[in-house]
Amino acid sequence: MSVWTVLLAAGSGTRLAAASCGVKKQFLRLDGRPLYWRALTAFARCPAVAGIVVVFPPDDLETAGAELEALIATRHPGVPVLTAPGGARRQDSVRNGLAALPPHCRRVLVHDAARPFVDPALIGRVADALAQGKRAVIPVLPVTDTIKEVSGDTVVATHDRSALVAVQTPQGFDVALLLGAFEHAGETFTVTDDASLVEHLGQAVHTVPGAPENVKITNPEDLPLLASTLPPAVP
Ligand code: CTP
Ligand code: MG
Repeated sequence: MSVWTVLLAAGSGTRLAAASCGVKKQFLRLDGRPLYWRALTAFARCPAVAGIVVVFPPDDLETAGAELEALIATRHPGVPVLTAPGGARRQDSVRNGLAALPPHCRRVLVHDAARPFVDPALIGRVADALAQGKRAVIPVLPVTDTIKEVSGDTVVATHDRSALVAVQTPQGFDVALLLGAFEHAGETFTVTDDASLVEHLGQAVHTVPGAPENVKITNPEDLPLLASTLPPAVP
């Protein structure tokens, strides 16, 4: 059972801006290609993935779309790839990406392009769970730090770590369920992941094991992770 992917590359990379000379992180060059291409390639190589919608900032849509078209033509010809303009919030970009899916598409994976190290095995775990009938699936990792709740600089509670997980993307959904969750949430409910919308709807969200290397490039101190993936410089 095939799924489409919505690849989110429409953020502004604010937290990284000072270290990236203002270049949005999804467009940082990695081995000669834009950063988002790294994640896209993992999805393009995954047999379960039928096509990909890449969401770009509206101002970059034309330029980035043209480069994407050229990259696809030379490296993954035959993989259906569409583009969509992003929105103000991440969830607005997701909604725009969902609107661009072909009408027959019933299942979708939503992935942050800022997680370039996603691998086909992880994509397969999420896609398989969807194929088995789960309607909302997220990859998770155990929390290794002790997590405390604070108010200002004062601790107010320590949470039981064994009941907590850290959440990654790709998150997988039945398209109708996710669209319904967006409708239920309305315009003012802001979330940091898509599964939260499904939880808000009162529907079950299932987990599969995440991958420790599937980190998100967020802050300047994450940049060396990208450098370490490049081939060694030729002397
Ligand atoms: N994203 C998006 N549309 C937005 C905001 C975020 O498509 N309006 C995407 C980003 O491009 C990224 C992913 O969502 O791939 C995760 O967001 P985050 O790591 O927060 O990236 P940015 O929003 O770009 O960074 P920042 O929050 O530092 O501005
Ligand atoms: Mg952000």
